[in-house]
Amino acid sequence: MKSWLLLSLLLLATMLQQYCVDGQAQVPCFYVFGGTLSDHGNNNNLRTRSKSNYMPYGIDFSRGSTGRFCNGKTQVDMIAEFLRLNTSIPPFENTTGSDILKGVNYASGSSGIRDETGTHLGNNINFRRQIANHRYTILRILAQIGYNRTRQHLRQCLYYVHIGNNDYIYNYYLPQFYPTKRIFSTEQYARDLINRYSRRIRDLLILGARKFVFVSPGRIGCTPYALSMNRTNGSCVEEMNAATSIFNDKLRSLVDRLNNNTFDGSTFMFVNNSARNLGVVATGGFTVTNASCCPTGTDLLCDPNQTPCQNRRQYVFWDKFVFTENFNSFLALLAYNGSNRDFVYPFNISTLVQS
Ligand SMILES: *[C@@H]1O[C@H](CO)[C@@H](O)[C@H](O)[C@H]1NC(C)=O
Ligand SMILES: *[C@@H]1O[C@H](CO)[C@@H](O)[C@H](O)[C@H]1NC(C)=O
Ligand SMILES: *[C@@H]1O[C@H](CO)[C@@H](O)[C@H](O)[C@H]1NC(C)=O
Ligand SMILES: *[C@@H]1O[C@H](CO)[C@@H](O)[C@H](O)[C@H]1NC(C)=O
Ligand SMILES: *[C@@H]1O[C@H](CO)[C@@H](O)[C@H](O)[C@H]1NC(C)=O
Ligand SMILES: *[C@@H]1O[C@H](CO)[C@@H](O)[C@H](O)[C@H]1NC(C)=O
Ligand SMILES: *[C@@H]1O[C@H](CO)[C@@H](O)[C@H](O)[C@H]1NC(C)=O
Ligand SMILES: *[C@@H]1O[C@H](CO)[C@@H](O)[C@H](O)[C@H]1NC(C)=O
Ligand SMILES: *[C@@H]1O[C@H](CO)[C@@H](O)[C@H](O)[C@H]1NC(C)=O
Ligand SMILES: *[C@@H]1O[C@H](CO)[C@@H](O)[C@H](O)[C@H]1NC(C)=O
Repeated sequence: MKSWLLLSLLLLATMLQQYCVDGQAQVPCFYVFGGTLSDHGNNNNLRTRSKSNYMPYGIDFSRGSTGRFCNGKTQVDMIAEFLRLNTSIPPFENTTGSDILKGVNYASGSSGIRDETGTHLGNNINFRRQIANHRYTILRILAQIGYNRTRQHLRQCLYYVHIGNNDYIYNYYLPQFYPTKRIFSTEQYARDLINRYSRRIRDLLILGARKFVFVSPGRIGCTPYALSMNRTNGSCVEEMNAATSIFNDKLRSLVDRLNNNTFDGSTFMFVNNSARNLGVVATGGFTVTNASCCPTGTDLLCDPNQTPCQNRRQYVFWDKFVFTENFNSFLALLAYNGSNRDFVYPFNISTLVQS
């Protein structure tokens, strides 16, 4: 009698838990790979000048300067909210216990697809090492819930990859530090990056990942960084935009190729961060598109402890390269819920996670 009751109660509890998970979060877990725009603090204890765990970074964030390269939330934070994950995705460097089941953020400021990218500033965690860190996370998950449940769990997660910007600004376009521009044409360089990228995606497929978002580099030639480097009198450096758009086209083709192969139920989508035009910017109420909100030195990062602009919601750029929280929110919503095929292809994140 008693044990029957106990068993029924346990079953009921399990069902309720199941129901809550299904009814609330759209995916059980969210793993993030990327560069500066997605870092949530992995660089804080690295020997590098690419850090943001100081004011005014995080001035609008509830927990202050965490190592996010933004005044507030990143696009990763926003997407985690849209997915109703109910937790901020912790940086790999700071994960404990069962946190890792809900997700880990491996992204590292200044890092890229190529191993050497950004290393003129010091250490970072490049894409290859981010995957190695994920392998380590999986070993920890295996120890917690065993092989079958781990396999089942991992294939339901969302894998978000936003990397490549730094391979241009902190590699190809810094010929004084890196030889790539002398070795490769822009076409060859994009091909090299995509080859490396697709090997990393293969690694993730082998590690059980099945739902992917690939976010393309933005129009880096229109960042305050590019505008300040070259004397174009305020117009975008189209040479840079042309170079990344070759990469973007190839990334989108990679999505087609991978979707056509339908490897064990895997699904891929592409977010075109170059699809911004002034019309889009205007609808968001952004009036300042060519300048950083925080005072910056010769570097592209905010100077420590300086007062940033007051009207932050009207700025696209926070420092000379990364976006403000408001612009992140604008892009994240388009990626999650947009219907413009120029921006989300072949469907949006909300469709991807329901597949
Ligand atoms: C790591 O966790 C500690 C304790 O929860 C927190 O105070 C700290 O801000 C976290 N660091 C990062 C980089 O998120
Ligand atoms: C969501 O977060 C709230 C507040 O932190 C917490 O009380 C609640 O248990 C969380 N729910 C789930 C399903 O994790
Ligand atoms: C794991 O799954 C396999 C195949 O479905 C099954 O044969 C095996 O018994 C399962 N192992 C455990 C521990 O559940
Ligand atoms: C931008 O500046 C860099 C370094 O000064 C130079 O190598 C490059 O040719 C310039 N590009 C354009 C489009 O002016
Ligand atoms: C930029 O503006 C200056 C002064 O107005 C002018 O002398 C120069 O020719 C312009 N350069 C370009 C690339 O348009
Ligand atoms: C940004 O654009 C505004 C208006 O077009 C212009 O007045 C300003 O000089 C530009 N600022 C920079 C830093 O290029
Ligand atoms: C993928 O399949 C679609 C439809 O079958 C086809 O139009 C497209 O060319 C294929 N793309 C690649 C890269 O194979
Ligand atoms: C991205 O958007 C731009 C501008 O809307 C468009 O010209 C370009 O073809 C798109 N790129 C890809 C790979 O979809
Ligand atoms: C996405 O769009 C649907 C339908 O337009 C809307 O109901 C929903 O609230 C939107 N989601 C978000 C996160 O804005
Ligand atoms: C994007 O998301 C919205 C809301 O979930 C959905 O209604 C719409 O069908 C999606 N867009 C497309 C065309 O995939």
